[in-house]
Amino acid sequence: MALSMTQIIVFSLLQAALTLNPEDPNVCSHWESYAVTVQESYAHPFDQIYYTRCTDILNWFKCTRHRISYKTAYRRGLRTMYRRRSQCCPGYYENGDFCIPLCTEECVHGRCVSPDTCHCEPGWGGPDCSSGCDSDHWGPHCSNRCQCQNGALCNPITGACVCAAGFRGWRCEELCAPGTHGKGCQLQCQCRHGASCDPRTGECLCAPGYTGVYCEELCPPGSHGAHCELRCPCQNGGTCHHITGECACPPGWTGAVCAQPCPPGTFGQNCSQDCPCHHGGQCDHVTGQCHCTAGYMGDRCQEECPFGTFGFQCSQRCDCHNGGQCSPTTGTCECEPGYKGPRCQERLCPEGLHGPGCTLPCPCDADNTISCHPVTGACTCQPGWSGHHCNESCPAGYYGDGCQLPCTCQNGADCHSITGGCTCAPGFMGEVCAVPCAAGTYGPNCSSVCSCNNGGTCSPVDGSCTCKEGWQGLDCTLPCPSGTWGLNCNENCTCANAAACSPTDGSCSCTPGWLGDTCELPCPDGTFGLNCSERCDCSHADGCDPVTGHCCCLAGWTGIRCDSTCPPGRWGPNCSVSCSCENGGSCSPEDGSCECAPGFRGPLCQRICPPGLYGYSCAQPCPLCVHSSGPCHHVSGICECLPGFSGALCNQASKWQKPVLTPTPILKG
Ligand SMILES: *[C@@H]1O[C@H](CO)[C@@H](O)[C@H](O)[C@H]1NC(C)=O
Ligand SMILES: *[C@@H]1O[C@H](CO)[C@@H](O)[C@H](O)[C@H]1NC(C)=O
Ligand SMILES: *[C@@H]1O[C@H](CO)[C@@H](O)[C@H](O)[C@H]1NC(C)=O
Ligand SMILES: *[C@@H]1O[C@H](CO)[C@@H](O)[C@H](O)[C@H]1NC(C)=O
Ligand SMILES: *[C@@H]1O[C@H](CO)[C@@H](O)[C@H](O)[C@H]1NC(C)=O
Ligand SMILES: *[C@@H]1O[C@H](CO)[C@@H](O)[C@H](O)[C@H]1NC(C)=O
Repeated sequence: MALSMTQIIVFSLLQAALTLNPEDPNVCSHWESYAVTVQESYAHPFDQIYYTRCTDILNWFKCTRHRISYKTAYRRGLRTMYRRRSQCCPGYYENGDFCIPLCTEECVHGRCVSPDTCHCEPGWGGPDCSSGCDSDHWGPHCSNRCQCQNGALCNPITGACVCAAGFRGWRCEELCAPGTHGKGCQLQCQCRHGASCDPRTGECLCAPGYTGVYCEELCPPGSHGAHCELRCPCQNGGTCHHITGECACPPGWTGAVCAQPCPPGTFGQNCSQDCPCHHGGQCDHVTGQCHCTAGYMGDRCQEECPFGTFGFQCSQRCDCHNGGQCSPTTGTCECEPGYKGPRCQERLCPEGLHGPGCTLPCPCDADNTISCHPVTGACTCQPGWSGHHCNESCPAGYYGDGCQLPCTCQNGADCHSITGGCTCAPGFMGEVCAVPCAAGTYGPNCSSVCSCNNGGTCSPVDGSCTCKEGWQGLDCTLPCPSGTWGLNCNENCTCANAAACSPTDGSCSCTPGWLGDTCELPCPDGTFGLNCSERCDCSHADGCDPVTGHCCCLAGWTGIRCDSTCPPGRWGPNCSVSCSCENGGSCSPEDGSCECAPGFRGPLCQRICPPGLYGYSCAQPCPLCVHSSGPCHHVSGICECLPGFSGALCNQASKWQKPVLTPTPILKG
């Protein structure tokens, strides 16, 4: 079809596509067809009829013919146009001016970087970055292999290693430095004695020889080595080194396991000491103590057996006679010249002879001699005898065999020349006369009984008495004569005032009323009796009798305790003076002075009161008597009325004549 485009009308279509940046690699372009509505002309065909000659009789040889003819027409049509079209490439979508890749699954921990492609954040993986890295991977998409070792965790993001306890280093490939442990190797090991410390747990791994939580203890006795698991092999009380197990042997033992006693000749710690034993003595391998061979003794076996003994521990007695020497080892006798026999008892010469050929007679006193030397003729005396001829007894102080033994008798005792037995001097007893006679005995063998009396001591020798002070006489039965005292009654008594004197020490026993060492002092005032120890018991007295204690009453007092005044009419010392007061006056017991009865006066109360006064001490004035015979009565002070008057003052006239009162006679003073 032949279109003749006469006019194109473009309708505005998608304007948006035009804003995408063509430079954006994610913008794709394509040709896009689009339809535009146009007014188009076209050759519009139509059927054109015309006539031609033809053989067609019927139509007169005219035939109708058709031909297609065209005319220009216009119509409204759609025209497809093409244009470059920008749009996001497939898999992208527009977002503003940009083309953004589209991930159908949203990238959870990541970014969509291309269609359906997530770029994960480090530590995340999976198509949509939703799964965390496994422990062996890290980084974006968990695409990096973790390098961490020894169980370390790997940071899924950075890949940095988070070491497990006990490790360090970039990749946790190193153990903690010795002495540290734990997370980050931050903890100090507590282990001791060179122990290593488990870097992970801090547990102490003890060096051989140590144990305990901190390896602070040595292996317990009997074990050693690693974990203290090795058994100690040391015998005989040896202790093993806690590390090496090497045995430290106790004294006397040696060898690797202390099983061997010290070699002969050594002893002690490390068998380092030399045995001190002489003469073949064996030494104890532990203590070094010597076990002597026969014939020797002493702590180092340095001494031969003492003379006369032999054998093991010198416990056997030699039996060699006549000067024969006994072997300390075997006890066999080596005889002096002139003797023979196993015990050297056999004289080579007959009895009584000696010398070469046994021709010389022996010079010895036959009774006192044991033997005569067959060669030299020297005499061996019986015990208790001495001298060339054995006719001299032992010198004083010696006795026995050869007079060699010193006497043991004491205190002047005699010693028997043969036996050495003691004959004690008087006053002593006992085997060696060392015991003085017991008190009360004396004489030889202390067999006599003393007869001293009154504490006298008797001489253990002869029984004579030494009297105690105050006694005399052969057997101390006589007391000292009066006036003497002391040893042998040699002192004179010095006691005064009839005091007795102690025969023992001369002390005075004062009689009552006296005092002082020699009883020369009277009792002090107020005391009396023995030792002046009693107090006078008197009321009104000048002390008491120093002997009897009788009170010495003051004047005017009487009674045993001087507590009664003198009886009426008596006064003075011992109330021995009679009173001389008259007219009923009483006298003072002390000085006899008179106290007059009322109405009287004067030293002896012999006068009445002066007129006008009456009563006690004549001290009261009479009342004014009006019609009276005179002043008032000297005793009673009563007015004596004249006849015809009455009343206390005699001033009333009587009705009747009252008889005249006889006046009281006036006593002459
Ligand atoms: C024994 O030997 C050991 C080791 O040689 C030493 O340490 C120790 O001092 C010795 N002891 C004595 C008493 O010699
Ligand atoms: C002992 O005997 C000798 C010789 O017989 C003699 O000379 C001497 O006087 C005597 N001695 C005594 C103390 O008898
Ligand atoms: C002393 O005692 C001894 C032994 O008891 C005896 O033999 C001796 O005759 C006594 N001597 C006197 C003097 O009594
Ligand atoms: C004791 O008195 C007597 C006789 O008066 C006198 O001879 C003697 O010497 C006196 N003795 C003493 C020790 O004073
Ligand atoms: C007297 O005194 C002496 C010495 O002070 C004492 O030993 C004695 O017993 C006394 N006698 C009396 C009766 O108090
Ligand atoms: C008092 O009486 C006593 C005993 O009768 C006598 O010893 C004493 O000398 C008398 N005193 C006077 C001062 O007469």
